[in-house]
Amino acid sequence: MQIARTIAEFRALRRGARPPLGFVPTMGYLHAGHRALIERARSECAAVAVSIFVNPMQFGPNEDFERYPRDEPGDLALCEAAGADLILIPPLHEMYPAGTSTAVRVGGLTGVLEGAHRPGHFDGVATIVTKLFNVVTPDRSYFGRKDAQQLRVIRRLVRDLDLPVEIVDCATVREPDGLALSSRNVYLSPEERAQALSLSRGLRRAEEAFVAGERDAEALRRLVRDEIEAQPLARIDYVSLADSESLAELEGRVGGPALLSLAVRFGGTRLIDNVVLEPPAAG
Ligand code: PAJ
Repeated sequence: MQIARTIAEFRALRRGARPPLGFVPTMGYLHAGHRALIERARSECAAVAVSIFVNPMQFGPNEDFERYPRDEPGDLALCEAAGADLILIPPLHEMYPAGTSTAVRVGGLTGVLEGAHRPGHFDGVATIVTKLFNVVTPDRSYFGRKDAQQLRVIRRLVRDLDLPVEIVDCATVREPDGLALSSRNVYLSPEERAQALSLSRGLRRAEEAFVAGERDAEALRRLVRDEIEAQPLARIDYVSLADSESLAELEGRVGGPALLSLAVRFGGTRLIDNVVLEPPAAG
């Protein structure tokens, strides 16, 4: 495994990589969710690159950029064990040189859900991912379904700007008790950690109801909200049931694939989770 700490160093190493090159962009503090993406890339590509960069542009002024958890030695050990070949750890001043005045904005999809609650967040994501694609020039890039809206924004970005990369999505990795793995889970107190199980439990209840035939959008959202509102420490940002592609909020009967997603705060910690509800194919 080789580690590049400048863009120039990475480009030099990249010239020696056999195609196809798989790429996993991350913000570090890696866990088994990131590991699954790296292992998937390993199984499908001749070479695998991972970037570790906590991107200030995607954090709001009152968010956790300063205290976002960091553990470079642990991250490098995980990357090595998962089979990464090239690691890019770029310095802040190279990703955002003084005087940077260009941004990438994906319209439409970004006005709702995370985009509505975190103004500017997806401009930061789309800009850094475009820059990383330009530096890494991967054939394929791997993203988690855990960040459902991010995945849709990246697919739209790649389509709209003709970026020559194939986007591969990977299932959400969960703790045995259902909590979706997240670098931010370390912030949770034991009480918050216990109450945070209501997120995956609520989604599961709604999914079970959906499989049993419940198709009313509001009834499905209600099942999730009831589960979470029963937790005294939980504050709901949103519980949404939206068209899985356009992310338009659904009312009435659910006819096509629908994204059931939520964001919930426990103290200063904000967690997200989702499932896709797919009506069985007709016939
Ligand atoms: P980060 O939160 O570090 O996540 C990196 C990748 O890991 C994303 O594709 C995310 O969806 C995936 N991931 C996180 N938790 C997961 C889980 N429990 N199961 C499966 N996949 C999971 O997402 C970002 O960083 C940034 O926005 C980034 C794309 C790197 C741009 O800065």
